[in-house]
Amino acid sequence: MARVTYVQPDGSEQTFTNYEGLAVMHLAVANLVDGIDALCGGMRQCATCHVYVDPDWAERVGPPGPEEAEMLDALTDAIDVRPTSRLSCQIPIIEDLDGLRVFIPADQPGI
Ligand code: FES
Repeated sequence: MARVTYVQPDGSEQTFTNYEGLAVMHLAVANLVDGIDALCGGMRQCATCHVYVDPDWAERVGPPGPEEAEMLDALTDAIDVRPTSRLSCQIPIIEDLDGLRVFIPADQPGI
């Protein structure tokens, strides 16, 4: 069991509990979190699941993998990619991430 808090650009927050080992994106989609459209279904092709990991959690979450990093690099002209940017479809919710906070970008593709 692990809880994830999603923070909207206006500062509003929603916290959900994951029981099934899904990704941060899946938990958001299952709970209709605004700003996480996940149009490609988790294939690292759309970036509509882009989040900023809370800096306090960045080390525990870890950096993007090579293909995810490549995707984020390709998007730097289109969206505001920051040091803690991640594609939330690539962050599995493991127990060690209980309490994780992620921020939804204001310029999310699809918003
Ligand atoms: S859901 Fe499309 S890149 Fe994550």
